[in-house]
Amino acid sequence: MTDPAARADELRDLIDRANHDYHVLDAPTVDDAVYDGWMRELQALEAAHPELLTPDSPTQRVGAGASVQFAPVRHEVPMLSLGNARGEDELLDWHRRLRDAMRGAGIEDDAARFVVEPKIDGLAISLTYRDGRFVRGATRGDGAVGEDVTANLRTIAGIPARLATPPQRTPRLVEVRGEVYLPLAPFAEFNAARAAAGLPTFANPRNAAAGSLRQTDPRVTAERPLAIWCYAVGAADGLEAATQEELLGWLRDAGFPVNPDISVEHDIAAVAAACTRWEERRAHLDFDIDGAVVKIDRLDVQAAVGSVGRAPRWAVAYKFAPTTATTRLLDIPVNVGRTGALIPYAVMEPVMVGGVTVRQATLHNQEDIARKDLRIGDRVIVQRAGDVIPQVVAPLTQDRDGTEREFVMPDRCPACGTPVVQPEGEVRMFCPNRACPAQIVQSIEHFVSRSAMDIEGLGEKTVARLYEVGLVRDFADIYDLADHRDALLALEGFKDTSVNNLLAAVDASRERPWARVLNALGIRHVGDITAQAVADVVPSLDELLAASEDELAEAEGVGPVVAGSVLDFLSSDANRVTLERLRGAGLRMRQEGPSRPAGEGPLAGRTVVVTGTIEGYTRDEAWAAVAAAGGKATDSVSRRTSFVVAGPGAGSKLAKAESLGVPVIDAAAFTAVLAGEAPVPTAP
Ligand code: IVH
Repeated sequence: MTDPAARADELRDLIDRANHDYHVLDAPTVDDAVYDGWMRELQALEAAHPELLTPDSPTQRVGAGASVQFAPVRHEVPMLSLGNARGEDELLDWHRRLRDAMRGAGIEDDAARFVVEPKIDGLAISLTYRDGRFVRGATRGDGAVGEDVTANLRTIAGIPARLATPPQRTPRLVEVRGEVYLPLAPFAEFNAARAAAGLPTFANPRNAAAGSLRQTDPRVTAERPLAIWCYAVGAADGLEAATQEELLGWLRDAGFPVNPDISVEHDIAAVAAACTRWEERRAHLDFDIDGAVVKIDRLDVQAAVGSVGRAPRWAVAYKFAPTTATTRLLDIPVNVGRTGALIPYAVMEPVMVGGVTVRQATLHNQEDIARKDLRIGDRVIVQRAGDVIPQVVAPLTQDRDGTEREFVMPDRCPACGTPVVQPEGEVRMFCPNRACPAQIVQSIEHFVSRSAMDIEGLGEKTVARLYEVGLVRDFADIYDLADHRDALLALEGFKDTSVNNLLAAVDASRERPWARVLNALGIRHVGDITAQAVADVVPSLDELLAASEDELAEAEGVGPVVAGSVLDFLSSDANRVTLERLRGAGLRMRQEGPSRPAGEGPLAGRTVVVTGTIEGYTRDEAWAAVAAAGGKATDSVSRRTSFVVAGPGAGSKLAKAESLGVPVIDAAAFTAVLAGEAPVPTAP
């Protein structure tokens, strides 16, 4: 057993350091979940051993102190913090305590209407208006004293310089409270631009927003697309409002952005349902939220129940299931991709993240590992955002005991032993051996994958096994499998039915369109979208074999690099033999039923992006439908995108469309547009 006093000291130290890193350096070193864990452990220790409670304990403060660069601002009314409720049970506990407090103050239960708001994961700020003019803006700081960032806040478009209310509804003084944030799509672009310029990237939009707001030069802030949602008022002189709902209405009228999806609920069951709705909505928003905030609607009830310590009794933060967790990094093995790239990945002790067990995550390349300073044996933070692949965010360096090992990239290919090379301008290492078995197996896996020939029953393990026994050494061998029934039946796990199913799936794949065949070949830089674009300009194998670089470059998205890569592929005798064998196997080596000539059809001249699961269409069918209607399907959303078709699972593309104001429609509307039963959506 550790000594409680020593542990409390240790926890205070950890929390103080984390606070400093987070608030002062804008460079968090621990995950929220870990931080909350420390805080709770410390609170529990202090509750069990009251003699350990010191006045300077982090449990007694609202946050970290303000840093030195900006002038201090004392908030007229302190900026409070919120207690947390994790899950419905804790929400009900909060409600029980609230009712007790209400009863104590002589207030009836049914006076408790609630407002449910998104808990924006940004930066709390306070905006002071005197006689309708914006005079000062400050960060939250420690809740009592923040930093004067007025000049920077003036650059944010959502913050009005003057209130829009008529004189009789304009208070002499008001402190408007809200959250400054960076929307997800601009955040991604901003980070990508920094990475391209060799600058360090921000871990999340909140840090980027914090960094942007605490700039000494407001011109830098002005370049960052910061936004704001307002949700509260601090000091107010001459502002009439009896409820939170009325306050939000006043904020809206005064010209502040107020989230349109905030709801008023009449009982705690409805509150719980509204919280769940926010959790579901989370993946589709173009800003980060980390929970929902539940507030008592009536301001007189709020005042009557008051606060305990750092948090008001009348409000609570309903926290979502964490999408981050900590676990141990057990090893960093290296995979060889189909292009020969060496791809290190993390093997971790299994851990639940956002309802899914995570064991592995990609680590991209050795630079990524070095930048994050990951060592084998580290405790690490893993994160799942939306439906994205898990990521290793950072090591918990303070938990190291010296036994951790640094990762070294192997100097020979782990699959074939060939010395690896690093081409100029590449951050990745490559195995240069074209006959490397790992590359071949991976390229066969790509060939049979869903977006390519889509051969069901040929999973990773089967492909590897068929390669091993020599039945499939090249894509074209797949189409000869029918001649090797007995050899297949001799394989472990194969019975009559499974062999029949596999051969039927192989047969069915002969019908895949030419563009899919092109994608399946695994030509470097030619993915599914580019393959479609190439198929549109060279609609058959014969035309492809005769194509020049210029002809290829007519395809959308094809420049010298991609065209060169295609020609390089075609210049190999082995590849030409494979292509002829595929043709001989009866694959479709020409585009059939030419798409409607450009310039005709309901979607003529329109560019459409499809994202998420579109009911009634596979991805290919949706693209084909766009092409058949005379439109063009592309893969990335920009201002030039005419509209986006989105379904469940849509993520950053949807967010980007929303932030750019590009119209978004669902599967039903898409069908109606294709049928000419609904107008083609246009930007408002
Ligand atoms: S109300 C008691 N409403 O959450 C009043 N806060 O943990 C507290 N936050 O510092 C503020 N969204 O930065 C409120 N809709 C919302 C919020 C919200 C995000 C943040 C705010 C505050 C922290 C409290």
